Amino acid sequence: MSKVTVVGAGNVGATCANVLAFNEVADEVVMLDVKEGVAEGKAMDMMQTAQSLGFDTTVVGCTNDYEKTANSDVVVITSGIPRKPGMTREELVGVNAGIVKSVAQNILKYSPNAILVVISNPMDTMTYLAFKSLGLPKNRIIGMGGMLDSSRFKYFLSQALKCNANEVEGFVIGGHGDTTMIPMARFAKYKGMPVADFLSKEELDKVVADTMVGGATLTKLLGTSAWYAPGAAGAFVVESIIHNQGKMVPCSVYLDGEYGEKDLCIGVPVILGKNGIEKIVELELDEEEKAKFAASAAAVHKTNADLRTVGAL
Ligand code: LAC
Repeated sequence: MSKVTVVGAGNVGATCANVLAFNEVADEVVMLDVKEGVAEGKAMDMMQTAQSLGFDTTVVGCTNDYEKTANSDVVVITSGIPRKPGMTREELVGVNAGIVKSVAQNILKYSPNAILVVISNPMDTMTYLAFKSLGLPKNRIIGMGGMLDSSRFKYFLSQALKCNANEVEGFVIGGHGDTTMIPMARFAKYKGMPVADFLSKEELDKVVADTMVGGATLTKLLGTSAWYAPGAAGAFVVESIIHNQGKMVPCSVYLDGEYGEKDLCIGVPVILGKNGIEKIVELELDEEEKAKFAASAAAVHKTNADLRTVGAL
């Protein structure tokens, strides 16, 4: 039996659970929330779509009852507050650090072998906090941001190219922040051909800029952080792990010398499988990309330092 827990039944968590159920990624999906009744209500609502949508996954909701999450294979952590218009993800450290740490500790009491997928913001810093405070091997702590940012990159590329997003290849590395993410334009392809063959430098620069503030644009439109793409990207990462798919996905992982960086979690391409991170893929970056990656890492280190200021580490 395969089991996934999603902690936080807010917009992102519930969307993730819904995609996991609809795609029958696991036999059981548990949603846990601190707000009385919310996870139970959303789980019941989802179960009442099972006939219309034709899925057999069981969705269970609970209020802070960690026993119900026992023996999960993968646990997605979305707990904490989302950003409001005008806020950066980094401003959430103070509130979310305590929440993410206690959630992760409670989860491990009941699922000591689980692989953790962290979505809470600021995501790279929350992933680092989980790694530093839990003492788990680094293959079991995965931050989800790169899959989402890559989806946005491919969306904006498809808009510029006036084509279907599934015809486009592209990925984003670096931190999951408005100024720290690095859409890898040099590697982006339209049906296997470099996108630079189809788009001018100005058009490509605009795609990159739109991608970087993709989350902020949605937060401004919605009044809160986005959820469909973040939830679906989280479910994609879970599926790659649970079904041991060996997919290459940019994820935030602990680096210990790879890409010339140490002691932080940041987005790089990894191979995902049943052990979580099966392998970190080291790309050959050019000088400009190397400089961008180093700057991104420096910014993530700076936010990580706030964990000490707020007493979370
Ligand atoms: C976003 C949030 C989830 O990028 O970080 O939409």
